[in-house]
Amino acid sequence: MADEVIQSRVDGDIAEIVISRQENLNALNVDVIQSLLLVLEKLQKETPVKCAVITGAGDKAFVAGADIALLQQLGKRPAADYIEHGQRLMRAIETASFPVLAAVNGYALGGGLELALACDIILASQSAQFGAPEVNLSIIPGFGGTQRLIQRCGIGAARRLILTGDMIDAHEAKAIGLADVVAPEGSLQETSWKMAQNIASKGPIAIREAKRLLRSSQEQLLLSGLQLEVEAFLKTFDTADREEGMLAFMQKRKPKFVGK
Ligand code: COA
Repeated sequence: MADEVIQSRVDGDIAEIVISRQENLNALNVDVIQSLLLVLEKLQKETPVKCAVITGAGDKAFVAGADIALLQQLGKRPAADYIEHGQRLMRAIETASFPVLAAVNGYALGGGLELALACDIILASQSAQFGAPEVNLSIIPGFGGTQRLIQRCGIGAARRLILTGDMIDAHEAKAIGLADVVAPEGSLQETSWKMAQNIASKGPIAIREAKRLLRSSQEQLLLSGLQLEVEAFLKTFDTADREEGMLAFMQKRKPKFVGK
């Protein structure tokens, strides 16, 4: 399977899915989100696999977030649709019948961090950088990041990343439990593939049930948190500061926020 923004291949029981918009550091536009949803659906219905690996094209970025150029042009209603699509994608990964590994090969920021967080296991290259820079644009995470970061790393790490917008490297991400594995230099793909093969060699029913059960303990809390996050995101989206934050990014300058 291949189209403009997503390349996917199935090798035996394992799928590799590559997000491919290198000129925008693989930022998530509508096309990427819809194509990922389609690929996941096909992998469940038409070409069943036992594990999937998601990564970004090139050596600079996994995914540098939501597409700011796109978001900048959206009104509130289309922005709500975009967020709903993104949330649906993250849930599709989280509830897939097979484990999904994130092979983070560079920047995993904003929506990119949220994509990794929706995956079952996060592997990082030595050059991976993680962050939730939404506050730099005067918005908050909208694809489940506030909830899944707390669930994965605890409230302290979630507060620090979301309130400062600071980036952390692969080793710090491992230290706070965000990355599960930091691959040796140059071997992220090999390390991810080996882990996928290991998982694929186990009993598929056991893996599916384990994935479901591991999720279920926090499910109710997550679902209600996701709803609150969408509401809060839209509140931040409907502000002059958000417009200024996104315009400043596009103009490659610092934003001036006024609290409106
Ligand atoms: N959406 C749309 N375009 C993006 C993008 C995003 N999230 N992140 C990067 N790009 C684009 C840049 O605009 C630039 O395009 P240009 O070449 O037409 O100017 C290109 O990708 C390369 O990015 P650039 O900023 O020049 O690279 P850098 O190495 O100087 O910085 C980052 C890399 C990741 C630190 C920086 O691009 C960044 O901060 N991106 C935004 C991250 C973010 O806020 N994500 C959350 C969005 S809600």
